[in-house]
Amino acid sequence: MARRDLKDGRALVTGASSGIGQAMATELARGGVDLVLVARRADRLEQVVSQLACYGRAVLPVVGDITTPAVRQRALDVARDQLGGLDLLVNNAGISAHGRFVDATADRLRQIMEVNFFAAAELMREALPLLQQGRQPMVVNVGSILGHRGLPFTTDYCASKFALHGFSEAVRPELKRLGIDMLVVAPATTRTELNDRLIEKTDERPWKEPRGVSADHVARAAVRAIRRGQREIVPSWSGWWLVALNRWFPSIVDRIADRYG
Ligand SMILES: NC(=O)c1ccc[n+]([C@@H]2O[C@H](COP(=O)([O-])OP(=O)(O)OC[C@H]3O[C@@H](n4cnc5c(N)ncnc54)[C@H](OP(=O)(O)O)[C@@H]3O)[C@@H](O)[C@H]2O)c1
Repeated sequence: MARRDLKDGRALVTGASSGIGQAMATELARGGVDLVLVARRADRLEQVVSQLACYGRAVLPVVGDITTPAVRQRALDVARDQLGGLDLLVNNAGISAHGRFVDATADRLRQIMEVNFFAAAELMREALPLLQQGRQPMVVNVGSILGHRGLPFTTDYCASKFALHGFSEAVRPELKRLGIDMLVVAPATTRTELNDRLIEKTDERPWKEPRGVSADHVARAAVRAIRRGQREIVPSWSGWWLVALNRWFPSIVDRIADRYG
């Protein structure tokens, strides 16, 4: 695939009011991309819009819950009517929870699957007609290293990320036939608000959370991968090591995980 030229591109980024989504919106605006940004917190989204004004690109907020079909449709309508189309869909919105599965509510699993998996899959489905008319179109799904290796205390989150990874891998060849690329970004621990805004916390994770990389680091790596047309990136060394160790020596990771269960 030819190197993707992002200048004057049009992107829709979900979960753009903080963290990796905000950082990706910034990196894309800096690269000359017009944006539709989706999230529920109107005040935070407005702040992001103001911060990006210096890049001179269109930055259009859509406030709402991405699991609501009407909100997804509104975001796509804004892309079509105000940007003239869509070249890049970034499925980034995500939520998490901590605690053992036996202590968790059924609602926790539902909610996490709705945001992290179903909303992403359905938004992609709904965006396909626009993307097919786009310039070098691409879908970017923000997964996780926990979409490669399941760990205790985050069962629902791991399930949602495995679902997103499997879905992305399966649909990639189908998208290719339509002229659309698919990139999976699989971050390891990243310093964002994700773990401060857990939807349920019945327990602390029994291991010390690594400090992690910055959201800007992940965003820069992701946008570089978009330009290069890559299929998947793990944008940190610690993440890369976990994925590699689990692939070649899964029993070692099993033993470590068992100790914490
Ligand atoms: N931080 C990490 O260590 C890490 C590691 C691997 C993968 N990831 C993934 O990175 C992605 C971004 O997370 P983050 O770390 O940047 O956390 P974050 O700062 O909490 O950002 C999550 C974003 O998703 C939005 N969001 C959540 N539920 C939503 C909903 N129902 N509708 C619309 N927007 C919604 C939030 O905005 P509102 O609350 O305003 O709606 C926020 O903008 C997630 O998919 C996460 O799983 C994070």
